[in-house]
Amino acid sequence: MILNMSRTGLKIAALAGDGIGPEVMREALKVLRAVEKQFDLRLEVTEAPVGWAGIDAAGQALPPATLELCRRSAAILFGSVGLPQRDPSLPKEQRPERAALLRLRKEFNLFANLRPVKLLPELAHTCPLRPERQGAGVDILVVRELTAGLYFGQPKTTETVEEQVPGQAEPLRYRRAVDTMATNSLEIERIAHVAFQAARQRRRKLTSIDKANVLENGVLWREVVTEVGRQYPDVALEHMFVDNGAMQLLLRPDQFDVLLCENTFGDILSDEAAALAGSLGMLPSASLGRTDGALTFGLYEPAGGTAPDIAGKNLANPIAQILSAALMLRLSFGLEAAAAAIERAVREVIVAGYRTGDVFSAAQAGTRKVGTAEIGDAIAAAIRA
Ligand code: IPM
Ligand code: MG
Repeated sequence: MILNMSRTGLKIAALAGDGIGPEVMREALKVLRAVEKQFDLRLEVTEAPVGWAGIDAAGQALPPATLELCRRSAAILFGSVGLPQRDPSLPKEQRPERAALLRLRKEFNLFANLRPVKLLPELAHTCPLRPERQGAGVDILVVRELTAGLYFGQPKTTETVEEQVPGQAEPLRYRRAVDTMATNSLEIERIAHVAFQAARQRRRKLTSIDKANVLENGVLWREVVTEVGRQYPDVALEHMFVDNGAMQLLLRPDQFDVLLCENTFGDILSDEAAALAGSLGMLPSASLGRTDGALTFGLYEPAGGTAPDIAGKNLANPIAQILSAALMLRLSFGLEAAAAAIERAVREVIVAGYRTGDVFSAAQAGTRKVGTAEIGDAIAAAIRA
């Protein structure tokens, strides 16, 4: 389905954010301009500040004007936010991770987070596993529930407790933090459908992750996923406890096709899976919400963070951001050919030997270490070629 296909073009909010965000976003926009021309598209990209950039520009991590722009857009291309070292006095509720990223997820009901993790054969050396453990290769889609579970359950508080202890004059005084893991069957059902449908486009295997041996949430998760699975008899469903899942990812990653996870488990396992692909700099993601019954509104962001240590040095790998733009074209705009052209161009440039520092190995013949802008230029050129 194609949204907002007005005469003015496809409306995209580009929120670069902090750290390496701006420099990788610049390359993604460069590549989008190239596909726009090549495929005769009309992309209406508007940039706006978010994160610390939002705080600096307008006093808030998600300035109202930026939120308004997102509301008027059909998709959000997001960079990254959060600089943990900056201003520790800023309360956690106002910090970019919560006030911008989690807020956007909730605001737009972006419940379905898709994180494809694929190790390119040319980059097999970046995988921390020995070749025999890599087996048939790492090609996993993590489907993470993104608006429920431990992240958003209420109550979520930190309180100071005074407890009278028998036989002691002074009360015992301590602080107590509470997070709540709560997920209802509707939330599990809708994310399960997304995962099963994704599995149908892939190798038709779904591994559902839970902690049903300990958590009520896990028992319900397993029941509901099993029920939904009856509608997908062509997809092989298996259940795995999260601790075992974490181990299996390292022992035999090629057993996984689609990995379906609760919010927190998905946060952790998607980083672990990402490590198998060598560099966070290669991995895109999509966070989708529902508009008019279709999953087309989305926020697209690289899996890696702001990487403040390399920010502004032309060292960052922009491929995750560029591939996120490709996912946006495919999932929000239905532009499969344009999305595939970007993915093909990325592959060509890797095959041609271009490497940013995160995936460069001096031992690999015929490769060359390049900067953020140079690899972006090469990918844009490959699209035009
Ligand atoms: C992610 C990130 C975020 C999360 C942080 C930055 C809030 O780790 O997208 O995985 O925990 O969801
Ligand atoms: Mg994370």
